[in-house]
Amino acid sequence: MSETMITAARAILAQNDRGTYTVPTKGLYPFQWNWDSCLSALGFGHFDEARAWTEIDTLFDHQWDDGMVPHIIFHKHDDGYFPGPDVWQTGRAVPTTGITQPAVAGFAVRRLFERAKDRDMARTRARALLPKIAAWHDWFFRCRDPEGTGLVAIIHPWESGRDNSVDWDAALGRVPTEGVMPFVRRDTQHANPAHRPTDAQYQRFIWLVQHFRDLGWDNAQLHDASPFRVVDPGFNAILIRACADLAWLAEVLGEETIARAARAQADKGIAAMETLWSAEHGQYLCFDRASGASIQSRSIGGLLATFAPIPQPRARAIAQRIASLGEQAPFLVPSHDPSAPDYDGKRYWRGPVWLIVNYLIADGLAVAGETAVVERIIATSLRLIEQSGFAEYYDPITGEPCGGSSFTWTAAMVIEFLIRDRQAA
Ligand code: DGY
Repeated sequence: MSETMITAARAILAQNDRGTYTVPTKGLYPFQWNWDSCLSALGFGHFDEARAWTEIDTLFDHQWDDGMVPHIIFHKHDDGYFPGPDVWQTGRAVPTTGITQPAVAGFAVRRLFERAKDRDMARTRARALLPKIAAWHDWFFRCRDPEGTGLVAIIHPWESGRDNSVDWDAALGRVPTEGVMPFVRRDTQHANPAHRPTDAQYQRFIWLVQHFRDLGWDNAQLHDASPFRVVDPGFNAILIRACADLAWLAEVLGEETIARAARAQADKGIAAMETLWSAEHGQYLCFDRASGASIQSRSIGGLLATFAPIPQPRARAIAQRIASLGEQAPFLVPSHDPSAPDYDGKRYWRGPVWLIVNYLIADGLAVAGETAVVERIIATSLRLIEQSGFAEYYDPITGEPCGGSSFTWTAAMVIEFLIRDRQAA
């Protein structure tokens, strides 16, 4: 069974491979997405190491001069997606968006490096990426944490990757809609509208893009000028883990200066994560930096925090919380608590299960020694594939496939889970 599944997953990677980058899925997402690429590279790494490195190299070829790595690279014209380059207007030769996405590259590069059979290639490719990833992390702390708290804010829900999470409802509700250009959504022509964000959310997503565009995409201004500034524990955990992994890699490659700075960023971030812990909810919560209030939303963002090297008691509590979610939903891990009034099991990030988040949570909990929950997360992830194929996301109660199909990073995560099992056996 697992061989058949690996073969099917590889076929999806091949189908979405555009030579030097992969699209998340044909139609719905016809370009290169930042965190999709880094996680998809892990799948390629098991059978074509050079291709895996190229995926990340291509992404960093489009890094901005200030260090930012954009969330989408519009390599080729495609009318099937909105908002395209004409909306973003970032003025780049190969157009990109002007916002970023979760910083998984540092983690992915360490993982590719540690597993590499071609050691020479791994050293050369990792060494070339090292200063670029460090520049991206420095950009985060400089531009998205101007007061030096140790934690960065996202300024657009799309940066989190969890576009329509319940976490953003109040903060996004304060974003105006006056002056938003008339537009036609394309996502709802490719996927079931009931699985996607609402029109009211899209109005605000586009208002923010227009606002940043009017400020000339000047990252020295955008943070303070954005009405939407949220500190997401999951997003920060990924960045902190990437800093720790970059520090490890830099040490191995003898790049002491990068190692020292990355270690300091990770340590400061870990200490600051404590400010997001909620004893009442047994998980981390988002913080609304614009209003100065904690966001009382028990989403997966606060569970994903375990991907960072958080204190063991915190990881334990998160493992317990996930086990209790398993009493409500047979498929772990729902992106929002099924008992919450605003849970919606089919609507993108308001309930559905995502294999990439499962992978990151499982990785963090495995390091913390929470093996029973890890095994359960992996087993239910693979059951979803058997039952519903390689979808973008799944209903945690019924297992129904939602969003796009033949999804690259879902396939990559399946390869990761299965090959891990084979290596453990
Ligand atoms: C989309 O278009 O839905 C993406 O999630 C934005 O990155």
